[in-house]
Amino acid sequence: MLETEAVRLLPVAELHLHIEGTLQPELILELADRNGITLPYTGLEELRGLYEFTDLQSFLDLYYANMAVLQTEQDFADMTRAYLARAAAAGVRHAEIMMDPQAHLSRGISLETCVNGVASALATSQEDFGMSTLLIAAFLRDLSEESALEVLDGLLAMNAPIAAIGLDSAEVGNPPAKFERLFAKAREAGLRLTAHAGEEGPPSYIIEALDILGVERIDHGIRCMEDPDLVERLVADRIPLTVCPLSNVRLRAVDTLADHPLPAMLAAGLNVSVNSDDPAYFGGYVDDNFSQLKAVFDLSDFDRARLAANSIHSSFASEERKAELL
Ligand code: ADE
Ligand code: ZN
Repeated sequence: MLETEAVRLLPVAELHLHIEGTLQPELILELADRNGITLPYTGLEELRGLYEFTDLQSFLDLYYANMAVLQTEQDFADMTRAYLARAAAAGVRHAEIMMDPQAHLSRGISLETCVNGVASALATSQEDFGMSTLLIAAFLRDLSEESALEVLDGLLAMNAPIAAIGLDSAEVGNPPAKFERLFAKAREAGLRLTAHAGEEGPPSYIIEALDILGVERIDHGIRCMEDPDLVERLVADRIPLTVCPLSNVRLRAVDTLADHPLPAMLAAGLNVSVNSDDPAYFGGYVDDNFSQLKAVFDLSDFDRARLAANSIHSSFASEERKAELL
């Protein structure tokens, strides 16, 4: 078997994926055309030319702007199915998919349209792609907690098929503590909890996410490496960190892939997995992340198997499903 095939075919779970970040430039233009949306650029080349980011905010500006093309349930379902097909080809057997309802509500798209569109594609992911899936409602930390609480109420009222909540968008200046009531309410509703922390924000945000929000997982978490006591705690408690190497390079959290802390995180005994975050924007899906890591770090088969097993153990899947996947 070719090395790349061996990497690709490791069964993995993808735990850190924003469905809106899977919108490929071709699909953006197709949906714009379908919905009669005028975009501020003229074609594929000009759009592709915008995929140069200096930091998280420069990416978020384009990511939110491109969502304008998502108008109908069908659009959300088409985007989701395109991701499922590509992820299945990458060896993803279980995916936990975040979506940003507030980014659609603010454009006048109803909760029903966005949630039901994504959920309709996820409902048949096992039959269609051999992938189990679950949905995570992510809340925008640069908006108020009141806004988040209102949307969570709406999701609960419509009995939305969500398994968890997350916290994303502009991190610095929006610490986890701002969302204490939101996470308490989600926990009471029986939802699982995760939050982005330590992507651009300091290690103290990771500590707040654990201690104040009570999250079970940390999305990114790479800046934990600046705080040895925190690393010791994360190792002792086996806290999952859903790391996204190509994302960190493209958003300049690290200078190059060779500077990425993933090998040091593995060596420290941290419970890390490899994920694609926003694959249409950052140059690759889970298999691309693995193959580029392999090329730069010469990860051992043991390390790659450990990363894959960590992803499955760290998922919110049932114990039965985890046993099937391992
Ligand atoms: N939303 C989509 N991708 C994100 C990321 N990498 N960090 C924070 N918010 C996001
Ligand atoms: Zn993310």
